[in-house]
Formats: sequence, C-alpha cells, structure tokens
Amino acid sequence: MRAALLIVLGLVIGILGTVFTMRALSERNPFPEALMVTMGFHRHQLGQAVKGQRCEAATNFDQLQHMQMIAADIPAAFPDAPQPFKDLAGKLHTSLQTAVQSAPTDCPALAAALKPVDQVCQECHQQYR
Ligand code: HEC
Repeated sequence: MRAALLIVLGLVIGILGTVFTMRALSERNPFPEALMVTMGFHRHQLGQAVKGQRCEAATNFDQLQHMQMIAADIPAAFPDAPQPFKDLAGKLHTSLQTAVQSAPTDCPALAAALKPVDQVCQECHQQYR
C-alpha cells in the first residue's frame, strides 16, 4: 500500500515538474529571435536580388529601410545586453542609415552598400550569438 502511494506521489511530482518546465520554456521571450529572423529575411531578399541581378532602386531602398528600422529595435529586444552589444547595435543602425542614404540603383552599388553592414552583423554574431 505504502509503495503504491509513493509511486503515485512520484508520478504526480514528475508530471508537475514537466508542466512547470514546459511553461518556463514557452515563456522564453520570442522577440529577440523573431527580430533577428526578420532582419535575416530582408538581408536574404537583398542577397537574392544581387544573385538574380534584379536590383531595383525602389526595392533596394525599401529593404534597406526595413533593416534600418529593425536595427533601431535591437536595444529594446535585448534590454539586458552589455554596453559593447548596444554599441554594435548602434553601429549597425549607422551603417544601414549610410546604406539607405547611398540609395543604390544597381547590383554593384547594392553589394557595396551591404558590405559594411554585413561586417557589423558578423562582428556581433561572433561575440554574442
Ligand atoms: C548587436 C548584435 C547583433 C547584430 C548587429 C546583429 N545580430 Fe543577428 N543575432 C544576434 C543575436 C544575439 C542572435 C541570437 C538571437 C537568439 O537566438 O535569441 C542573432 C541571431 C541572428 C539570426 C538567427 C535567428 C534564428 O534564431 O534563426 C539571424 C538570421 C540574424 N541574427 C541576422 C542578422 C543580420 C542579417 C544582421 C545584420 C544586418 C544581424 N543579425 C546583426 C545579435 C546581433
């Protein structure tokens, strides 16, 4: 009888533990990753444009502007990040602003505008991803 009770108790504790773990996992803030996935989407779109040699001025501008706006949200998405991380986020925003202002009208110009941007992506990912 006592053994059976202990087994039931063990099962209940196990189930409760699983429920709490699942809840904790699903509560992980999805915002930072979602922001980066969206950033990656726009970078991919531009990469595809260069690859297919279809770099239209209006599309380039639009995609770069999206990336600039997303970069501005990085500090809010990673509120607990250390100062060097925030500096890199600022650097990304500045490099995207420069890219937007350069308003690339063809593929070589777009590729050149993206180069300093990609460097900042890489710099941050190497240290913090
Ligand atoms: C200031 C730091 C920083 C900069 C700059 C940065 N990233 Fe990230 N990125 C991160 C971190 C941190 C992660 C991991 C996020 C996570 O999984 O929660 C990440 C993850 C990613 C991912 C993977 C998302 C996933 O989990 O599937 C992509 C794609 C990405 N970044 C694209 C970019 C692109 C493109 C740029 C430049 C235009 C960029 N990032 C610039 C910090 C940065």
